[in-house]
Amino acid sequence: MKYKMVVIGYGGMGAWHADNVSSMMDHIIVKGIFDIRKEACDKALKKGLYVYSNVDELLNDQEIDLVTIATPNDSHKDYIIRCLRAGKNVISEKPVTMNVAELEEILEVSKNSSKVFSIHQNRRWDKDFVIIKNILKQGSIGTPYFIENRVQGSRRAMYGWRGHKINGGGMVLDWGVHLIDQLLNLIDFPVVSVDAHLFNLYSDDVDDNIKIFLRFENGISALCEMSTNCLINLPRWHVSCTEGTVVIEDWDCKGKIVKLKEDAEMTWSDDIVYTEAGPTRTMAPRPSYTTEVFDLPEVNSDWSDYYNNIIKVMEGKEELIVKPEQALRVMKVIEKVFESEQIGSGIRCYI
Ligand SMILES: NC(=O)c1ccc[n+]([C@@H]2O[C@H](COP(=O)([O-])OP(=O)(O)OC[C@H]3O[C@@H](n4cnc5c(N)ncnc54)[C@H](O)[C@@H]3O)[C@@H](O)[C@H]2O)c1
Repeated sequence: MKYKMVVIGYGGMGAWHADNVSSMMDHIIVKGIFDIRKEACDKALKKGLYVYSNVDELLNDQEIDLVTIATPNDSHKDYIIRCLRAGKNVISEKPVTMNVAELEEILEVSKNSSKVFSIHQNRRWDKDFVIIKNILKQGSIGTPYFIENRVQGSRRAMYGWRGHKINGGGMVLDWGVHLIDQLLNLIDFPVVSVDAHLFNLYSDDVDDNIKIFLRFENGISALCEMSTNCLINLPRWHVSCTEGTVVIEDWDCKGKIVKLKEDAEMTWSDDIVYTEAGPTRTMAPRPSYTTEVFDLPEVNSDWSDYYNNIIKVMEGKEELIVKPEQALRVMKVIEKVFESEQIGSGIRCYI
């Protein structure tokens, strides 16, 4: 069976969906697009796609099984609701909505629909994330207690609609939503506090450099960090566990695991060590024979598994991986992020 899909919003991400689905998904044919911009429509026509003249034409097209929405964030809600009401399966780009109330409105509609509704949290399939998830699941370096999850760039600008609050711009809604989703997926406990430090250094209207501390009920804390002005990057992931440390440097997944040797006697002297910076006992380097260094595990992760899952759910063969309830939790945390920044301190919560 071949399913037919359309994309609403044929910009950077919409074209990416159309291209990748066409080249990687045997079961899906991308039939066409709808976009309000003439250049986007022209580009689609050149690619041999059908261009709908308005949304109603698309919604009334009985051939269409699946709609992927990749417009700016402020228009997701209305499109999702209209598509679900028209009996289409729906994928929305992240962030699914501008806030919790909008998503709750969608969930009311989705409750009465038999169609699939999911959010494209594609970064759950990123190799770096899958490696961290595997290491923590395996438990070979003990229990995690602090997870640093960051992305850092230096181009400063939040381009186009991303620079406008009214369109749902800003780093929290752009990348924060990915990193928070990853952390909620890694740590299966409620978030009990949120402390956000948001900076708008280069955008008048939105946050462009952010640091968010999350505390979970089981005692794990995490830092989400996103920069647009970082000229010396810190690791993509740095995870502290009771028996070892993991570092992933970058998206290419260079990194390592350093683990305490189980049988290494702690026989070194606890005399004071004299360093260039003066005497220290606690910060003196650990002898190398007490640790082992391991390569990061090899993992298989393929973005197309996101769409494979959607198809299997449409066929009643699998459970949805990215569930709207999970997106609701992420949006609730994001609301606390903005609240925390507004009052200038951390906030207790139970999400
Ligand atoms: N999951 C990811 O990795 C990822 C990456 C980039 C963007 N995104 C998300 O994809 C969405 C689009 O981002 P982008 O970078 O492609 O933006 P973009 O500006 O490149 O493209 C948006 C497109 O939507 C069209 N558009 C605007 N308003 C519309 C409307 N009301 N109806 C129909 N078309 C409309 C624009 O003409 C444009 O072609 C956003 O929600 C963004 O957060 C996700």
